[in-house]
Amino acid sequence: MKNEKEIKQFVKDRYASVASNEGSCCSCCNCNTDIVEHAKSMGYSEAEIRNIPEGSVMGLGCGNPTALAELKAGETVLDLGSGGGVDVFLAAQKVGETGNVIGVDMTSEMLEKARDNAKVGSYKNVEFRAGEIENLPVEDDSIDVVISNCVVNLSPDKLATYKEVFRVLKPGGRVLISDIVTEGELPEDIRQSFDAWTDCIAGALETQEYLDTITKAGFRDVTVVAKHPFYEPRMDDRLAGKIVSIQVRAYK
Ligand SMILES: C[S@@+](CC[C@H](N)C(=O)[O-])C[C@H]1O[C@@H](n2cnc3c(N)ncnc32)[C@H](O)[C@@H]1O
Repeated sequence: MKNEKEIKQFVKDRYASVASNEGSCCSCCNCNTDIVEHAKSMGYSEAEIRNIPEGSVMGLGCGNPTALAELKAGETVLDLGSGGGVDVFLAAQKVGETGNVIGVDMTSEMLEKARDNAKVGSYKNVEFRAGEIENLPVEDDSIDVVISNCVVNLSPDKLATYKEVFRVLKPGGRVLISDIVTEGELPEDIRQSFDAWTDCIAGALETQEYLDTITKAGFRDVTVVAKHPFYEPRMDDRLAGKIVSIQVRAYK
């Protein structure tokens, strides 16, 4: 059984090397495809990708949460595991000058990259904070919308994460989360592999368990608003048909 501290360190090391462009591929970053093509296959439009700093589009996501979050001008948005900032910048355009977007990430190399990208794009309404999603550096009842893209599966404590999300949301606030879940049992050697964990596979929950975790954290109206297969041919073929990306909406 893996311990939580070891998992976190492994995840940090992997994404630190991805941020420094030394990382080996992970399921969330498809090395065989052009990064723009990969982003388009995850639901981003070409116009969206061309309108944000190039360095933020890292091919690490499994959906496009801002496309489904129905963000409005003036809203305050929090992105869990913001990476290079791709969804923070897209959200910043939607909430406009009267809104603001906070990205939280535990990997300092990713934060540095995101902050550099924010300078390139001269964003005035974004901020990147160092922290863990299980213990958010964010005030109670302060956020309108929490988004996230392919991150909660990496957490060793998903219930703690969703409880934190519940704490920071304003009453009536919502989440729109893209994440990986499984459909059917994964081979034990894959479940036990640190590499598979950082590949967004070994830590993924079965769909119903994932949705039940969100409900258990206090959310209502937990709904899968979109879903698509996430298996790629370069993955272990025992995973075929078992890896799925879902986009979930829920309300506090
Ligand atoms: C697969 S990448 C996704 C990045 C970004 N959301 C995107 O779509 O490009 C996962 C990111 O989440 C961060 N991360 C993973 N686990 C975390 C945790 N427990 N707390 C905070 N950040 C975490 C990693 O450092 C990494 O930047």
